[in-house]
Amino acid sequence: MKTPRAFYKPLAIGAPVPYRDLPVRVERMIHFVPPHIEKMRAKIPDLIKTVDVILGNLEDAIPADMKEEARAGFIQLAKDNDFGSTGLWTRVNCLNSPWFLDDVIDIVSQVGNKLDVIMLPKVEGAWDIHYLDQLLAQLEAKHEVEKPILIHAILETAEGVANVESICAASPRMHGISLGPADLAASRGMKTTRVGGGHPGYRVLGDVEEGTERAFYQQDLWHYTMAKMVDACMTYGLKAFYGPFGDFSDPDACEAQFRNSFLLGCMGTWSLHPSQVSIAKRVFSPDVDEVKMALRILEAMPDGTGAVMIDGKMQDDATWKQAKVIVDLAKQVAE
Ligand code: GLV
Ligand code: MG
Repeated sequence: MKTPRAFYKPLAIGAPVPYRDLPVRVERMIHFVPPHIEKMRAKIPDLIKTVDVILGNLEDAIPADMKEEARAGFIQLAKDNDFGSTGLWTRVNCLNSPWFLDDVIDIVSQVGNKLDVIMLPKVEGAWDIHYLDQLLAQLEAKHEVEKPILIHAILETAEGVANVESICAASPRMHGISLGPADLAASRGMKTTRVGGGHPGYRVLGDVEEGTERAFYQQDLWHYTMAKMVDACMTYGLKAFYGPFGDFSDPDACEAQFRNSFLLGCMGTWSLHPSQVSIAKRVFSPDVDEVKMALRILEAMPDGTGAVMIDGKMQDDATWKQAKVIVDLAKQVAE
């Protein structure tokens, strides 16, 4: 484990609880809510019972003339509800926007003790995290916030991808990273107008075989970035997440995208529509048969060493570790 930079110590209330001593939470879906819409705020008590994390979105998708209403709406919904073990996050506007500073100051000063995580969009390098880290330390001290507010970065610029490891290492407040495929596509000059998922044009052609139609295989546009993000997160003990999937009319494609990210190491995803909550719950909870198989491996190798055969397949110290990942996750989800 790397030794991260120390928190800036709040002046008034002493050292905060280090992130790694905070309880581990199951965060299969970060459910986005537009807080300026009263009808949406009214749904919060039901959402608290069904989703792992509720996020009040202040950034993209909130019209510029509704930014103040969204911020006020988020503060209101934070005050009005008891979230229990459901996480409360907000996605603030990006650092160079006219709204970022007021987003953070107003929210931390008024509902800092209810807020778990700030999602910071368009993060380009460690300097962005350092800035928010220090600002949070000052506000936590001033407003006597009892536990550190964590930071979750969105990986959605080419520069951010290039700097992903130093972003992860930038502060012990770092909770994790989400892939932001829409902004990332624009930042990279990719030729798509989709929010996540594949593209029919991104494919490889199979060889020509006589008498058969030439096959083509669609490729995963996000594989490289997702793998890079997962490696960086795991190196620094953070959680990796897939981000938005914009085509609500295609639940199969949504599920496939979520599943790829789960298999690759992500712990959760965003849900932008109620229909995506159950997909995320299903995908990011380990499969019962996988758990049964993993338990057999753990039982067959009680001290985690050696080699055994199960159903004709070799298991050893490494597959014991793989099995433990699945069993540990199953336990967390069951709790
Ligand atoms: C999310 O914010 C994205 O840009 O995909
Ligand atoms: Mg974005």
